[in-house]
Amino acid sequence: MEVFVLAVWLCVVTAELAQDLAHIEDFIQQKRYLLKKKYRPMYHISAPVGWLNDPNGFIFFKRQYHIFYQYHPYNGAWGPIHWGHVISDNLVDWAFYPPALVPKDHYDKHGCLSGSAVIHNSYLTLFYTGHVLSNNKTFQTQNVAISADGIIFQKYLYNPIIRDGPFGNADFRNPKVWRFRNSWYMLIGTSRLQEAYLLLYTSADLFNWKLNGTIAKSYGDMGYMWESPDFFEIDGFTVLILSVQGIQGDGHRFRNLYQTGYVIGNFNYQSGQFEDLEISTATFNELDYGHDFYAAKTMQSVDGRRLLVAWLGMWESEFEESNDGWASMLTLVRELKLTFQGKLLMTPVREIVELRAEVLEDAWYSPGEAFYAGSRAFEMLVNSSTVMYDAAIILEWSGERQYTIAFSSERGYVSVDRGGVDGVRRADWLPVTHIHWRIFVDYSSIEVFCGTGEVVFSSRIYPRKSMRIRIAGDTQLHVTQYRLRRSVGYDNKLRKQLKNHVINRYH
Ligand SMILES: *[C@@H]1O[C@H](CO)[C@@H](O)[C@H](O)[C@H]1NC(C)=O
Ligand SMILES: *[C@@H]1O[C@H](CO)[C@@H](O)[C@H](O)[C@H]1NC(C)=O
Ligand SMILES: *[C@@H]1O[C@H](CO)[C@@H](O)[C@H](O)[C@H]1NC(C)=O
Repeated sequence: MEVFVLAVWLCVVTAELAQDLAHIEDFIQQKRYLLKKKYRPMYHISAPVGWLNDPNGFIFFKRQYHIFYQYHPYNGAWGPIHWGHVISDNLVDWAFYPPALVPKDHYDKHGCLSGSAVIHNSYLTLFYTGHVLSNNKTFQTQNVAISADGIIFQKYLYNPIIRDGPFGNADFRNPKVWRFRNSWYMLIGTSRLQEAYLLLYTSADLFNWKLNGTIAKSYGDMGYMWESPDFFEIDGFTVLILSVQGIQGDGHRFRNLYQTGYVIGNFNYQSGQFEDLEISTATFNELDYGHDFYAAKTMQSVDGRRLLVAWLGMWESEFEESNDGWASMLTLVRELKLTFQGKLLMTPVREIVELRAEVLEDAWYSPGEAFYAGSRAFEMLVNSSTVMYDAAIILEWSGERQYTIAFSSERGYVSVDRGGVDGVRRADWLPVTHIHWRIFVDYSSIEVFCGTGEVVFSSRIYPRKSMRIRIAGDTQLHVTQYRLRRSVGYDNKLRKQLKNHVINRYH
């Protein structure tokens, strides 16, 4: 069946080509990359121009890392969503590629929403949600697109592969596909009567899918919709990541509009269920405690590391840059580790040190001392020699605006405050010997990794110029600061190659 379908599909590729390659030609010509705008990051993935949200289909294919992302190329706001595409050899340097999916078919004409990728028979295969608005109603269906070269994707002739959700098609999205033994599995988030459901589908061939059942639902305290499921094994346990809409804030937990977090359990493939796991606000842990973090996606690297990337953004936040024709960015790629206590640790992927260009500071500072940051794209390692005293570091700009990172020794927590309404985020943190903060600033973003990754805060900030860094708290801090280089952009050589590749292969 599968081989037959592929053969039919390949014949049709050539016939439909002229129209299909318009977006590739457009990419080869375009010079619209917005380099010089005031808040543009240098080493975080953002769209070359236009809007970006969730990462999609994070995968390693033909010796390169691929990240796709929700992309609206025409302005700095959400609109008919494409899949943007970046490729890297080393998880640090990313080059823009032509959009992989363009919303123009009857089943996806108002958007190619988030999904995932797998490799099968040497084809890079994307699963995504087609989004259509008709008579004021939303229709979401699951679809597939395939590529032999990892650059030019062809939508499957018989899309959608899943047409009808069991509770209708209004909220029925974000397929996460993986293989276990001889079967393919797919998770999809959906909603019924204000409750979130996670559906499991199975397939023998990636094209024909059967609903197996509901593997979890929200039962009141876990919101009304679960988006962007991710599912993987780590150290013999199963991790399920969900991006949840509708959890009530609870003290310092769940302070953002929507929350991305995880549960850990054991998935039983015989029953198609988790064993002894109830998904509730008691078992669901936030992955990142910052203001801007959503829709995390993971993959396994060749050397076995579990890597994660997420949207460094949140719905309904201000996106000051959208007036400049672009919006938002992804987080740095991170590595996940599981502790014996069943918590995930999250640290920047080790390759990130390749961004270091120059040491700007390397000294002990006392409370009250300050220095100028020297760059708007930097990494800073901050250590104390003790956990007996409160520690704090303040990044300040334009007089009154500032971002504060503080450790409370007595109460055992770490907090950040970016000012403004609802500026504080806080998490329990009990370092044993000394405080260690690893801070990444990239023009309009900040990521703070605490200790060995127990607590992470990711947020957007909008400094108009270079920062001043002031030590506060009650203890000395050692600061090492590096200027970081640019690592995301167009590669002109690559565009030339792409041009030849398209001409040779498809004309
Ligand atoms: C669509 O739905 C919205 C909200 O329910 C309503 O305000 C609007 O009038 C509807 N439009 C049409 C064309 O039915
Ligand atoms: C779900 O899949 C499992 C095997 O993974 C099977 O044992 C079970 O019968 C399936 N349930 C349904 C409703 O198909
Ligand atoms: C800071 O702390 C980290 C993590 O504990 C450690 O690896 C590093 O050597 C320390 N650096 C300095 C300058 O003390």
